[in-house]
Amino acid sequence: MIQAENLTKRYGNVTAIDGLTFSVDKGDICGFLGPNGAGKTSTMRILTGFMPPSEGRATIAGFDVFTDPIEVKKRVGYLPETTPLYSEMRVAEYLDFVASIKGLRGEVKVKKVADIMEITRLLERQRSLIGTLSKGYRQRVGLAQALLGDPETLILDEPTIGLDPKQIIDIRDLIKDLSGKQTVILSSHILPEVQMICSRAIIINEGKLVAAGSMDDLSGSRGKGFIATIAGPPGDVGSAVEKLAGVLNVSVCQEARAGGPIRLEIDIEEGANPRKELMRLLVDKDWELVELTGIRHQLEDAYMKLITEQKRGETDGDEKK
Ligand SMILES: Nc1ncnc2c1ncn2[C@@H]1O[C@H](COP(=O)(O)OP(=O)(O)O)[C@@H](O)[C@H]1O
Ligand SMILES: [Mg+2]
Repeated sequence: MIQAENLTKRYGNVTAIDGLTFSVDKGDICGFLGPNGAGKTSTMRILTGFMPPSEGRATIAGFDVFTDPIEVKKRVGYLPETTPLYSEMRVAEYLDFVASIKGLRGEVKVKKVADIMEITRLLERQRSLIGTLSKGYRQRVGLAQALLGDPETLILDEPTIGLDPKQIIDIRDLIKDLSGKQTVILSSHILPEVQMICSRAIIINEGKLVAAGSMDDLSGSRGKGFIATIAGPPGDVGSAVEKLAGVLNVSVCQEARAGGPIRLEIDIEEGANPRKELMRLLVDKDWELVELTGIRHQLEDAYMKLITEQKRGETDGDEKK
């Protein structure tokens, strides 16, 4: 449905996106994940035909976003990073205006606008001036205008940014409900948000593709295990833990410093819980448990690493945020 080939965007000597190639299938809810400055907004502005790429091309439903912008705009609902709303218009009036632009007329238009206001829970604010709305309500108006006309593709740039927790849950639920009906690509710099809403993700950093795939692929198909940090004789600890019932495999994730505790990653059988056995073993052997934690998903580790690297390079200040 969405296809990007070697997309590159330069602003003067800043390369915002650098040879991005990816695709999103029909009906998918795809997260476009990356830290601030990764190039998410730039990519989305190209995909929606608001700015041309420096190199490469993109198509939506087979139409080139650059050479066929009208066909593309007919099929795409776009929630930009900052929604240019008409502050002197009332909510219902504005949505009626957007619906007219999208070619809706008469009864159909009136019904569509009413439906959208119900879905986005704007009915009680339909007569408010947009300029007087809170950030959360403005974001809903932004989403409502993107949804009007039932576009087959939705491109949402950080749809939950700046919202309070209750509003975030509302908007996430609303987007999840679109699954299978519409193709959605939504950007976020928050991994748990993407894990919650999306079936697939594309991860970018500094304008380049880092990873893409289903959430399961990206998370790695790890068993449910835990990490134990144990002070004891390094040679004995691992083999003793491995013999416990329910333990599949033990790997040393950090070599012990001389005399220091040893960190073990313990994979366990589905449904097993060898933690009690482990405690008995420790008491029995007089070894000390320094720490016991769950295994973090590979995706979380990879994303954290990526953000930390980015932060380090950013000490001279991010010009935008
Ligand atoms: N209009 C612009 N002029 C110059 N640089 C820009 C402009 N827009 C974005 N950039 C730069 O391009 C990079 C990517 O920005 P952006 O696409 O907004 O990333 P994101 O949405 O992931 O935060 C950043 O380094 C940003 O400062
Ligand atoms: Mg952005």
